[in-house]
Amino acid sequence: MDAREMKVKAAEAALAYVEDGMRLGIGTGSTAEEFVRLLAEKVHGGLRVEGVPTSERTARLCVELGIPLKSLDELPELDLTIDGADEVDAGLTLIKGGGGALLREKIVAAASSRMIVIADESKLVATLGAFPLPIEINPFGQAATRIAIEKAAARLGLGGELKLRKSGADVFMTDGGHHIFDASFGRIPDAEALSGELNSIPGVVEHGLFIHMASLAIIAGPAGAQTLKA
Ligand code: A5P
Repeated sequence: MDAREMKVKAAEAALAYVEDGMRLGIGTGSTAEEFVRLLAEKVHGGLRVEGVPTSERTARLCVELGIPLKSLDELPELDLTIDGADEVDAGLTLIKGGGGALLREKIVAAASSRMIVIADESKLVATLGAFPLPIEINPFGQAATRIAIEKAAARLGLGGELKLRKSGADVFMTDGGHHIFDASFGRIPDAEALSGELNSIPGVVEHGLFIHMASLAIIAGPAGAQTLKA
């Protein structure tokens, strides 16, 4: 079974949690897109849902496939968000933002009664941090923000490079008009402490550590999908 088939398996399993009439947060990334495709089939079969997309990319796919969408302002309270992740640990702390949508993903997940993560087994890790942590920053004063992040990380004994994300020759721009540093801190033994430090830096808009947000993770491997509970 290849990685795509595992993503489809996880997405299929997540569909079982979607009920008629639900207000759904819809994630971003290749795994979330498998979910969108399967959800669209259900919608064409008569399932009624209203979706709030976590990115322009997801919104385009939903429109293309005929999934009814609302903005988060129109639907500020959601029943369930289904989204992928770059890393998941056993306590369901996540690293997200590999696709650059972490800010909207976090806002949408926080507005949801429940968040379910779907992933192939390569995303399940003992300790977070092999995947560089995306940190969304305001373009203003980014050199100062970089120094502040490096100092904050050093206080926690973390080092490593902060790479300004590029898209081809250009600096990558998020849907919100911000930039991203991908931070190669290595092992992150205390995600809550790092989150607190990053949240206290004015130039940091948001970071990709999702703590106490997901209540269930569906992790698919060749033998099938397993669920992990927070
Ligand atoms: C998007 O910003 C991310 O948070 C994605 O959810 C994450 O990168 C997982 O993407 P894949 O499903 O493509 O691995």
